[in-house]
Amino acid sequence: MKQFSATIRGNYPLSTGFFELEFTWDKAAPLPEPGRFFTVRVSDNTIPLLRRPFAFSAFDGNEGTASMIFQKRGHGTGLLSAKHKGDTLDIIGPLGQPFPMPDKGKKALLVAGGIGLGPIAFLAQTLRKEKIPVSMVFGCRTASLIPSGDSLAASGTVICTDDGSRGFKGTAGDYLKSIERSVGSGTVVYACGPQPMLKTCHEFAGRRGCACFVSVEQIMACGVGACMGCAVKSAGGGYKRACTEGPVFNSRELQW
Ligand SMILES: Cc1cc2nc3c(=O)[nH]c(=O)nc-3n(C[C@H](O)[C@H](O)[C@H](O)COP(=O)(O)OP(=O)(O)OC[C@H]3O[C@@H](n4cnc5c(N)ncnc54)[C@H](O)[C@@H]3O)c2cc1C
Ligand code: FES
Repeated sequence: MKQFSATIRGNYPLSTGFFELEFTWDKAAPLPEPGRFFTVRVSDNTIPLLRRPFAFSAFDGNEGTASMIFQKRGHGTGLLSAKHKGDTLDIIGPLGQPFPMPDKGKKALLVAGGIGLGPIAFLAQTLRKEKIPVSMVFGCRTASLIPSGDSLAASGTVICTDDGSRGFKGTAGDYLKSIERSVGSGTVVYACGPQPMLKTCHEFAGRRGCACFVSVEQIMACGVGACMGCAVKSAGGGYKRACTEGPVFNSRELQW
């Protein structure tokens, strides 16, 4: 982990309320990996006081840049959405644990919901480079929220909208149920998105005999293991810290 000042290379609107922000990555910092995250100070004054956590959506080693896909939700992300090329950001990262690679010979089934798209898109890119077969599902409420317009569908991603305005009508979890019989223990499920979607993926993987890794995007305070603000219930009793032991967990380690 390293704290450094990054320069914004671009901040591009992707869909209603979604942006992709690209920034320089310090050469002396460890390299970003899918599932790991960073925290950013979104303002030079004390409001908001806490740094905000975001997952990496890409890393370009040649350009020396990292990216994130974020949704404007509140004050912090509102300030981020107004940043421009050339502005600077105070970054700490990379933090947390990455998604593990699947065992040799396994396929990957990637499931993203809403703001979970960034880390899952980064994982898809990384697995494809390693020639690991990837299927990807993205779910959101309605077509206007689909980031990257048509490019997601062009990459073979199955799009699901709750209202049926694009692609499969229903949630990503509904889609998984529709393909359940075609998935077996040779598949590893990776998921990031809202808690009910993660639970559906965990249960789906349990029924199909697959391993399942989930990234839990808990609200965080310190981001470095000091406050227990991000605690999630562990399957064996007690708690785990999403910021240090996660945010990626084998879904069997968690209490659902
Ligand atoms: C490890 C990790 C990775 C993340 N990666 C991404 C990402 O790639 N893209 C992205 O858009 N967001 C991501 N988030 C969520 C992001 O940190 C929050 O959306 C952001 O902090 C909200 O800040 P704000 O000041 O705009 O909102 P606030 O004003 O603080 O809150 C606005 C609304 O957002 C909700 N909110 C705040 N934090 C979270 C959270 N962690 N998860 C769910 N809802 C939250 C609040 O409950 C409230 O309803 C990630 C969170 C974590 C912990
Ligand atoms: S956010 Fe403080 S321990 Fe995880």
